[in-house]
Amino acid sequence: MAAPLTNLWKSRFATINPLLRICKGMGYSYRCYSFAKQSIARMLEKSLIQDNVKVKGWVRALRGHRDVIFLHVSDGSCVKPLQVVADPSLCGSDVTYGCCVSVEGRLVESSHPGQMVEVAAHRLQVLGPCDPVEFPFKARKKHSADYIRTYPHLRPRTNTFSSLLRIRSQATMAFHKYFQENGFCQIHTPILTSSDCEGAGEVFCVEPANSQLTQPVEGDREANHFFKCPTYLNVSGQLHLEVMSGGFSRVYTFGPTFRAENSRGRHHLCEFYMIEAELVFTDTLEDIMQVMEEMVRTTTQTVMESAQEDVHYYLQNTGAEKQRETVEAMATQQFKRITYTEAISLLHANNNFQFKVQWGADLQKEHERWLTQHLGDVPVFVTDFPAQLKPFYTKLNPDNKTVGAVDLLVPGVGELIGGSLREDNYDTLHSRLEAAGEQDMYDWYLDLRKYGSAPHGGFGLGFERYLQHLLGTGNIRDVIPFPRSPGTCKL
Ligand code: 4AD
Ligand code: MG
Repeated sequence: MAAPLTNLWKSRFATINPLLRICKGMGYSYRCYSFAKQSIARMLEKSLIQDNVKVKGWVRALRGHRDVIFLHVSDGSCVKPLQVVADPSLCGSDVTYGCCVSVEGRLVESSHPGQMVEVAAHRLQVLGPCDPVEFPFKARKKHSADYIRTYPHLRPRTNTFSSLLRIRSQATMAFHKYFQENGFCQIHTPILTSSDCEGAGEVFCVEPANSQLTQPVEGDREANHFFKCPTYLNVSGQLHLEVMSGGFSRVYTFGPTFRAENSRGRHHLCEFYMIEAELVFTDTLEDIMQVMEEMVRTTTQTVMESAQEDVHYYLQNTGAEKQRETVEAMATQQFKRITYTEAISLLHANNNFQFKVQWGADLQKEHERWLTQHLGDVPVFVTDFPAQLKPFYTKLNPDNKTVGAVDLLVPGVGELIGGSLREDNYDTLHSRLEAAGEQDMYDWYLDLRKYGSAPHGGFGLGFERYLQHLLGTGNIRDVIPFPRSPGTCKL
């Protein structure tokens, strides 16, 4: 088999190669290649003295003397700016803090202690001026997170938020890397769905704005809907992952998730990103917890390495340096494990809670925070919750009272991951759906238990909560590019 395939590729290349050569002759491939490589990050990393360089970016600092002007230019490729040294005659009054510039000059050795090279400019052009009086961010002023958040369209111009976005990008890659290296197949689960996976009624409905696209027909409720059934934005990709896990054993998804929760709390969003995994051939919750623990640990180590400079800058700038210890605990120490019933006993020992501690009631944020603190400021798995607290798909334990569900609690944030073993017994699942009057809607889900069913389970991690924990960020709106919460969906 291998030989014909190789020949096929060779023949394809034989066709493509002359084309590539023509493009190169015309300067296309060279230009594409070099454009991709031009960045301040690369320039600073290589620190090669060069006669002619061109840099484009935004002025993040400006210091002028009578005979020389220093600019710090950032193109967003790294946390460090590139220092540009220019003669004042090159800089018109248009060169201000926040403006966008194009600089040409020589890359020379720098006398600045923080960098090896700097640009000695011989040409400086303002591409986009920026009125320093009107621009909401001021040079040399430390703006609070609350203030920066009021300018969602301009905040990538601040060093702190651009650092955060680079860390977010690295963390995204780190999660993908973990799954790809551990035999998981990525699935693009749908955003439009007809099921409320979690059954909590926190769904957003989807219908076209143009009402002419739906034709009401008397006596036919389906005709009122564009998709001929009520359709929502997904609250979780789990059920679709379960479908795919039946053919792949290990699958994951990483995408936007929508919840119509009426909360403007520090850990809640209406649109957030969730990383979900589904594993087949799991016998116990421990099988799932091991993957959860390994994923969080490995990913954290990867991010701390790949985004080292940004993490350092971000923690220093937001006054969250103490967070390093918490993150180190997450990356190195074994996570604790307790059952829900044990957690309730521990919580009973403390009477200072606003919400009553009671077997059968949900754990509140204050309870979660107390538990992680009490158990040594490390992540804690709480397992085997009362059945009534968890969705219909969660596997019933032999005691018929609790289910095989697990929440991972982390210091400062509370619940970071929710997971469970899924009910794989057809009859139990059928009777649960029947009791809820939903067996017809979930006939396809019941089919999964009818044909080649296997014990399986999985989990979902809130990506923004992960970043909050990693960086000690108090408000979840500061770790997502465009936060959506009740009353806020500007731009
Ligand atoms: O615990 P949840 O609701 O679990 C599920 O959705 C499962 N179906 C996942 C699975 O097993 N595949 O949500 C998972 C995680 C929570 O632990 C939390 O970190 C995050 O998603 N999350 C939110 N993050 C931000 N804003 C919200 N409104 C969130 N709701 C849940
Ligand atoms: Mg949960």
